[in-house]
Amino acid sequence: MASAERTAFPPIGRAWPELQKDMHARTAGDADWRGGRTAIFFFMANPEAYEVGKKAFMEHFSENALGGARAYPGILAMEKEVIDYGLDLLHAPDGGRGVFTTGGTESILLAVKAAREAHRAKTGAGPGDPLNIVMPISGHPAFDKAALLMDVEIRRAPLGPDRRVDVEALRGLIDKNTMMILGSAPCFPHGVIDPIGELSRVAREAGVWLHVDACVGGWIAPFFERIGRGTPVFDFRHPGVRSISADLHKFGFAPKPSSTVFFRDGEDLERSIFRLGAWPSGLYTTATMSGSRPAAAVAGAWAVLNNLGLAGYEDAARNIAQMVDDYVAGLSAIEGITFWAKPDVSILNFGSDQFDIYAVAEQMKAKGWIPGLTRDPKGMHTMLSMQHAPVREAYLADLRACVDAVRASDAKSQLAATY
Ligand SMILES: Cc1ncc(COP(=O)(O)O)c(C=O)c1O
Repeated sequence: MASAERTAFPPIGRAWPELQKDMHARTAGDADWRGGRTAIFFFMANPEAYEVGKKAFMEHFSENALGGARAYPGILAMEKEVIDYGLDLLHAPDGGRGVFTTGGTESILLAVKAAREAHRAKTGAGPGDPLNIVMPISGHPAFDKAALLMDVEIRRAPLGPDRRVDVEALRGLIDKNTMMILGSAPCFPHGVIDPIGELSRVAREAGVWLHVDACVGGWIAPFFERIGRGTPVFDFRHPGVRSISADLHKFGFAPKPSSTVFFRDGEDLERSIFRLGAWPSGLYTTATMSGSRPAAAVAGAWAVLNNLGLAGYEDAARNIAQMVDDYVAGLSAIEGITFWAKPDVSILNFGSDQFDIYAVAEQMKAKGWIPGLTRDPKGMHTMLSMQHAPVREAYLADLRACVDAVRASDAKSQLAATY
């Protein structure tokens, strides 16, 4: 029966030209990501790599990467090459392995599952026994999601003054039921890389799994290091690091949905795999949480990685680093703006103790910018990639005007920080 609350299923179909027109009309008021107006959600190295990713995605629009082994060896081979590139980039030892996933959340789910199986294998714990993950307060909610699904307690450690996790406080939360500790490279809210070297020592002393959540930095921070930016080492060179999540669809500049998770040891990857024999169709095995998944994303990522090559990613790192410095200089010149952390890669987090930064964000929104917010500390947040370069002066001019207006009116905002 038709409901007044629901949109009715169209009784007859419509052709593409009409649908396209309709879609354009519907999205005309959406954020202008091409024009660098969104602080998150879209990532760009350069226009060519963007076009290559899009074309490769469309070439393999119809294939299902679930069928890689049975039907699409070409897709499977591209997937393997992407994983090989990541293992090399992150200095995984021989025997390291990885999985191509549909996003950071899925990569994290796989790492948590593998860590749980490893903990059970070591301790003899089983279903119903208490388990916990100890993580920085700034760690991503994907770990909470994994913990909810796997019935694991989350313990959050506070941060130090530089917004990196307080390693001693984290160490104090570890007990015999700790199946994983983690650090971010960098964390989403403040953009800093946790002290992975120190966490690696803690992990080895306590005999616990250390995961590095490099969903943001995994495919770009190594290039910041390569160009001499002094970005901290966060990868398998630290002996306690057992797994790393790294998103291709963020600073790998690949189409969505694409991410990777890497394990130091192939045996750990086996622990993340799902296998079911008791099914009329026979053995069902997936290395991912998802079943069907787009081969288009594999092709898109492979093509972008091959289009840019190491040299292209180094150029992207150089360009982004320069842009970050320029934004920081421009923002720092606005009276009353304070950076809450020194960006390690390309996330900026700033606020003010002189005026309400959310009121500024609200006014920026009215001017067509989609600002990110942080609650603790109260701030604005942005992830910079190359679509933000041409609009830097416009952004800074609008921000200056909004700050002036908020100062003049002493405006206060009722906004609440939501992701
Ligand atoms: C540090 C970090 N980890 C994990 C994720 C989750 O990634 P996704 O949204 O692709 O699931 C994000 C997303 O922003 C992130 O910033």
